[in-house]
Amino acid sequence: MADPYQSLTGTRVGKFVVQNLGLPDPTPLNRYRPGDPVLSGSFLVGGSGSLRQPVVAAIAAAGAEPVTAIEDDTRYAGLVFDASGIESGEQLIAILDFFAPAMRSLNRCPHLVVLGSTPSHAGSGSAHIAQRALEGFTRSLGKEVGRGGTVSLVYVAPGAEDRFASTLTFLLSPKSAYLSGQVVRVGADLDKADGAATEPDRPLDGKVALVTGAARGIGASIARTLHRDGATVIGLDVPRAGSRLQELMAELDGDSVLLDITAVDAPQRVTRAVEERHGGIDVVVHNAGITRDKRLANMSAYRWTSVIDVNLIAPHRLSAELLERGLIRRNGRIIGVASIAGIAGNAAQTNYATSKAGVIGLVDALTPLAAERQVTVNAVAPGFIESQMTARMPVVLREVGRRMNSMSQAGQPIDVAETVAWLADPASYGVTGNVVRVCGQSLLGA
Ligand SMILES: NC(=O)c1ccc[n+]([C@@H]2O[C@H](COP(=O)([O-])OP(=O)(O)OC[C@H]3O[C@@H](n4cnc5c(N)ncnc54)[C@H](O)[C@@H]3O)[C@@H](O)[C@H]2O)c1
Repeated sequence: MADPYQSLTGTRVGKFVVQNLGLPDPTPLNRYRPGDPVLSGSFLVGGSGSLRQPVVAAIAAAGAEPVTAIEDDTRYAGLVFDASGIESGEQLIAILDFFAPAMRSLNRCPHLVVLGSTPSHAGSGSAHIAQRALEGFTRSLGKEVGRGGTVSLVYVAPGAEDRFASTLTFLLSPKSAYLSGQVVRVGADLDKADGAATEPDRPLDGKVALVTGAARGIGASIARTLHRDGATVIGLDVPRAGSRLQELMAELDGDSVLLDITAVDAPQRVTRAVEERHGGIDVVVHNAGITRDKRLANMSAYRWTSVIDVNLIAPHRLSAELLERGLIRRNGRIIGVASIAGIAGNAAQTNYATSKAGVIGLVDALTPLAAERQVTVNAVAPGFIESQMTARMPVVLREVGRRMNSMSQAGQPIDVAETVAWLADPASYGVTGNVVRVCGQSLLGA
């Protein structure tokens, strides 16, 4: 959906007005286009922890240039600081020493990443405190970097030094254009996954991915993106969305399952389809979701129940059935779709926010169970994303929703889809139990 305000700020007159009145001035974001290199340009790498070498290797492997000393005439596509060796409050000054001189040498839409050690695994109380402090730095810099820039923090647990490259590459790339101010935890809970993809731009080759609610919006974008990355996609949606779903699946050479995920026998029907047609599944994306907004005083039991059923109970039942039947293969993925409403709450959305906070609970509850089967569980929590769901909002609320984030604009379905694709990547086996907001660093629930 078009954003008329952003189109206006792209004109000379609009820019003049915006700058003189101090209004939000959204930078058009650099998004990944298939065929482009995932990373390009120079990335300045600093810090003295044990992650520095793997960082340099990951940037070079993605085809970009890692630079380890600031140069006068270079402009950087991104900055990476390895703060994992910081053990005290006094040593935090190293972050200032690295970032401050480089802030004026950034390209448009730069990607900045701080790497730390998971605070609870830090060797001492003072290291724990210093590592936790990195969150405040990251979230504040996200709010001031401007020009379409993103800032992220990645905590790497001891033993996970060999499994954060897919996360770093994603966060430095245009694939994470609308993801900022977030903390990702990479752990060593799962076994090391077997070999890298033979074709780096098709990491999901040979994998089968089920996407619910795939007929339109974010779900359709997820289906396209997982297909782009090599997966065979099974798209699921309600029968009334049948022709749209079948058209998309024909285009993606995928498979359609038409059913309502709240049907009593839906988990059994889905597992049967998966088993008979594909023998098992690698990636499950619980994207189907609905809103039925009303203030609580006017909330009917129907509005309440339908939202909880679709958004929470159905993903739980389907995940449980797939796990119990052992149909999710080793190094598999369960990916939920939560919402910032489930983190911050939203007036007239008690039902929706309850369901989406429940999705976060689902991640917490399933992570240890799924880990026993070498399956990761994560969720994305979109902010305001342009889709038919948000197009139905009253115009003033919609305009406020678009601007209330560090990027002063709404996200696109592809932003959520790219995040799902990163979580689905077999190389992301260190990422489990995370809820990652894709919200342009929304001010709600920040
Ligand atoms: N658009 C946003 O700003 C936003 C923000 C936060 C979270 N989300 C979440 O992202 C997901 C996708 O949102 P969207 O904006 O693309 O919505 P959408 O309404 O455009 O698409 C949702 C899809 O789910 C399908 N679906 C609904 N109920 C179903 C059922 N019972 N069984 C099977 N399929 C069903 C619909 O037919 C539709 O194709 C939802 O879970 C939503 O809550 C969206």
